[in-house]
Amino acid sequence: MRDLADLRSRRWFAANDMRGFAHRQRMQQMGLRRQDVLDRPIVAIVNTWSDLSPCHAHLRERAEAVKRGVLLAGGMPFELPAMSLGEVMVKPTTMLYRNFLAMETEELLRSLPIDGAVLLGGCDKTTPGLLMGAISMGLPALFCPAGPMLNDRHRGKTVGAGTHTRMFWDEMQAGKIGAEEWVQLEARMTRSPGTCNTMGTASTMTAIAEALGMALPGSTSIPAMDAAHPRMAADCGERIVAMIGEDLTPQRILTRGAFLNAAAVQMALGGSTNAAVHILALAGRAGVELSLADLDAVARRVPVLANLFPSGDKLMEDFYYAGGLPALMNRIREHLALDEITVTGQPLRTQLQDREVIDDDTIRPLDRPVSPHGALAVLTGNLAPHGAVIKPSAASPAFFRHAGRALVFDSQPQLLAAMADPDLDCDENTVLVLRNAGPVGAPGMPEWGNLPLPKKLLQRGVRDMVRLSDARMSGTHYGTCILHASPEAAVGGPLALLRTGDIVELDLEARRIDMRVDDAEIARRRAAWTAPPRPCARGWTLLYQQHVTQAHLGCDLDFLQGTAPTPEPAIF
Ligand code: FES
Repeated sequence: MRDLADLRSRRWFAANDMRGFAHRQRMQQMGLRRQDVLDRPIVAIVNTWSDLSPCHAHLRERAEAVKRGVLLAGGMPFELPAMSLGEVMVKPTTMLYRNFLAMETEELLRSLPIDGAVLLGGCDKTTPGLLMGAISMGLPALFCPAGPMLNDRHRGKTVGAGTHTRMFWDEMQAGKIGAEEWVQLEARMTRSPGTCNTMGTASTMTAIAEALGMALPGSTSIPAMDAAHPRMAADCGERIVAMIGEDLTPQRILTRGAFLNAAAVQMALGGSTNAAVHILALAGRAGVELSLADLDAVARRVPVLANLFPSGDKLMEDFYYAGGLPALMNRIREHLALDEITVTGQPLRTQLQDREVIDDDTIRPLDRPVSPHGALAVLTGNLAPHGAVIKPSAASPAFFRHAGRALVFDSQPQLLAAMADPDLDCDENTVLVLRNAGPVGAPGMPEWGNLPLPKKLLQRGVRDMVRLSDARMSGTHYGTCILHASPEAAVGGPLALLRTGDIVELDLEARRIDMRVDDAEIARRRAAWTAPPRPCARGWTLLYQQHVTQAHLGCDLDFLQGTAPTPEPAIF
């Protein structure tokens, strides 16, 4: 156990000089007593609540529960607001700000008298953003998930956030849903505060946080509105105080084995393709070697067992009742490194004991997976030399081997306008392509990769086509979408050289994505290529465009990767 005298916060509060006096004085200004900050570990509760972050609407109350746990364990909590990143509201895309939140988290913890942190988040980018910053800062840290929203039903059918929005939209475009029902649907699918109840990016990333060992066992499966949720938040507060005493930092938890465990969980959940970017960024912060090839290898061996939208037909509340993440992890234990320790200080093997699956239809046995196809496949080829990803379990098997004529769009507005055109030159075998939608080009690599289908084909009953882009796709979405083509078109990746009419070939089994264009012609096009103009950028966006890495490296900022110690601030 660490001596209280070693606490980092004592540099602020215990110094017998004018600065120490001022720090104590300002705490007393808030009504705290001298001993409240002198003799206790100081815990930051980094809270991504805001009035425009509906998935986090309950996080102010949860912060109070965390505080209760901290105080009961003998610590002193301070709540620190951080950028909230409500996925649907933030434009152009929350991904542009994931690294901003990471930097903010690191700097909050660095610049203030903090000994350890509870990180409150859950909506898509908040989980990786908070964790990336906490990893870089290197203090004991524990992730407290927002939890999924409640299930909902519409006209007798289970409906979930994101997945069904896209389904209903396509049906409306096809003329099968009327204006009145469309308005009714606005009040459906998102029934309560909490993160998306499908296996979208939020549920994937919170589960990954738990599988990495950075969240309490079982915590990420608890619905946001269940009474177990504030109890879990209080547990987080209690545990972080002990972690400070044990000096249990992320560096002691985040090994390569922990990352491979997280990848196995992503695959068994049928998790979001976005995880392929975030997990590499997290590994980069932890100094762990991890590549897209590692993820593909895990995806080939771990089947999709969680019967959750968009790969299956249930929601997160069902997953909780079925035993939640510890039950799923127990079921795939042969694919896990069980000696990895977690925020509990215990090895995974101890935590998973007796965590049995209660409902085999929601968490399937290994020999009866939800889909015979994996949750992720990494493709390479002359269209994506550094890699691209696809989610086979949410795609159409009929397209797993496909050659079709490319229809190429240079921008999202151009694409959206064309999709409504009744004379658009395409059929169901066409490959729709969107470029300049990557980390630099968009900028921020938005979730435009689930390209909408042409209205004229929707009206003919077409519900999927092969789509290719350097963008990402919402984890709640589905379809034969090849994403994250790297390098992206805006920096001269080969997607920039593709032309409408070229034949694009997808071969999932061979893990290939190619254009049927010979090397000499590709070289000619490259010589004639000029970079597209970048939207006028300033401030954060300009910094982001100058330093963001490509998708196959995790889209972190190049100067934030690695494990160089974050220097302690001078206190004068
Ligand atoms: Fe917040 Fe889906 S919009 S988790």
